[in-house]
Amino acid sequence: MTNNAYKNFTILPKFPIDYFLNIYDKYKDILLNSTYEDFNDVMLHDDASIKLVIFLKNHEITNVVQDMFDVEVPCCGFMINFPRAGVWHPHTDRRPCGLNIPIDVDTTSSHFFSGDVSDAIENKNALDLSPQQDASRRNKKFLYEPEKYQFYNSRHPILLNTKQVHGFANYADTYRTLFSIDFIEPYGDVLETFPKDWYDNDL
Ligand SMILES: [Fe+2]
Repeated sequence: MTNNAYKNFTILPKFPIDYFLNIYDKYKDILLNSTYEDFNDVMLHDDASIKLVIFLKNHEITNVVQDMFDVEVPCCGFMINFPRAGVWHPHTDRRPCGLNIPIDVDTTSSHFFSGDVSDAIENKNALDLSPQQDASRRNKKFLYEPEKYQFYNSRHPILLNTKQVHGFANYADTYRTLFSIDFIEPYGDVLETFPKDWYDNDL
């Protein structure tokens, strides 16, 4: 295991990102305005502060990404946070963990944060309900309590425990674009499968 200063995420300075930068170059002109007709096997989500373009199990990109890992990748995709969107509410995900890769991130005016569910106050009046989710699958939302979180500017990829509270903020005048890979196994189990040189580092 890594000697990790962060409780619920691990920085992966040497995770190879060239493939993800290349597919961003290929798709960046249509990502923001894309519709279902632009892709096969995708799921789209838009709201006032974020757009998600998620490649599903049969998409060629998901197949390429799957080959990078020894654990199952059910889907992956671009997460585009709008300029000056501020704090995206602290929440937990349905997926157990994810790998977030910075594609185009202002590392001085945006950040990721992570805390423990047991330390945070659940905001029961603000449950998330995306169109694909029924009530039993809602993500939990929490009050924004920065004093309880650890922060990272997403300069490098991270594996994050998405069953713990996490979120992000963008105060930059530019889009904050990441590529996020889903896993179906728990954070610790996924991390154990990663090559040691992805997270051995001089940080
Ligand atoms: Fe999340």
